[in-house]
Amino acid sequence: MQLANGIGVSGYTLEERIGAGAAGEVWSAHLGEQRVAVKFMNNVPDPDGKYARSLQAEVHALSQLQHPNVPRLFDYDLQTERRYLVMTLAEGMGWDVLIASGAVFSLRLDARLKLLGEIAAALTGVHAQGFIHRDVKPGNIRGTRVPYLLDFGVSIQRQAVDSTSSQVGTGLYMPPLGDALDEHSDTFGFAIVVYEMLFGRHPFYDPLNSPVLIDETRRMTTLRLRQHDWHAPTRLRPAEVPGDLRGVDMGRLEAMFVRAFGPPQSRWPDLDTFMNALGDTLLTTANQPYLDQAQSPRFNDDPTRPPLDTAHALAEQQATEHPPAPDRTRLIWGAVMLAIILFTLVWVLVMGRGSL
Ligand SMILES: Nc1ncnc2c1ncn2[C@@H]1O[C@H](COP(=O)(O)OP(=O)(O)OP(=O)(O)O)[C@@H](O)[C@H]1O
Ligand SMILES: [Mg+2]
Repeated sequence: MQLANGIGVSGYTLEERIGAGAAGEVWSAHLGEQRVAVKFMNNVPDPDGKYARSLQAEVHALSQLQHPNVPRLFDYDLQTERRYLVMTLAEGMGWDVLIASGAVFSLRLDARLKLLGEIAAALTGVHAQGFIHRDVKPGNIRGTRVPYLLDFGVSIQRQAVDSTSSQVGTGLYMPPLGDALDEHSDTFGFAIVVYEMLFGRHPFYDPLNSPVLIDETRRMTTLRLRQHDWHAPTRLRPAEVPGDLRGVDMGRLEAMFVRAFGPPQSRWPDLDTFMNALGDTLLTTANQPYLDQAQSPRFNDDPTRPPLDTAHALAEQQATEHPPAPDRTRLIWGAVMLAIILFTLVWVLVMGRGSL
């Protein structure tokens, strides 16, 4: 099916294509007054079925999750030629674009914190309902009036996590290599989103030296943290500090991120505590006079560095790594072993009877 404005899907009329990722293509659509988002599986070869499984995973998660900042699932069809799901439309800009364009600094600091607080609450809700998102990043968050946590295509239920589950996601937002997959994998990515919403760029990533592979990226993250080689708030040049953060105690703020990015024993107990501490650190009387002076930071004093939007666009191009097909060889071997065990049991029983 060729998607176009005016085409009917599940009773809704398609309007325009609003986004696309590795797995899906998203359109706005309407039925009378109601506007929705329709996510279609991408029209690309899918030999091992990973994109089909991704849409299925999203249907599974959205059909169970309930939170005002997580889209509601209205309908889906996973049997048709161009599979799709229908969900709440997140109005407004994707946060990747918001950050890359610098438009994030047209929002006051307290408004940015409020938006982050809503996404933190969504993530806490997702975790409480037994899911791990596995791909928290600015490109999967949208809206500045009601922000939504989107893209549950690689989400996983807590009880389904195994030793391979941590190899899925987007390298730039994943914790150091070796960290097991759990709720912290999401809160680590969220802390990077927080940093980006405050400072306008990624805390570790240097576009001139960007690794592509997930493991390589995660190794880089480990090194950067260990060697204190990141854009730590106390090390920023004055031009790199956004105007409305000028009265903030950078040492205190840095300590907060060190905790968020650090080893399990030093981390924040939950996102609520993290967000409250962030509010206490940023919205102080010392910083009050600067709140209306949201001046964008400048990072490009070095002429060899690509401009911020290019850098961030490059970062966002790092597509999500989707889970590989289940290992059929292991399944077949398991079945063979089971058959041998059963056969041996039956044989022992029969022989035992015979010798009575
Ligand atoms: N409910 C929605 N309302 C509005 N826009 C949406 C919605 N869901 C997704 N989008 C937008 O569509 C784009 C692609 O969506 P999504 O991230 O879900 O696709 P994907 O193919 O799974 O992505 P990825 O490349 O991260 O795997 C994103 O820019 C996202 O902001
Ligand atoms: Mg996405």
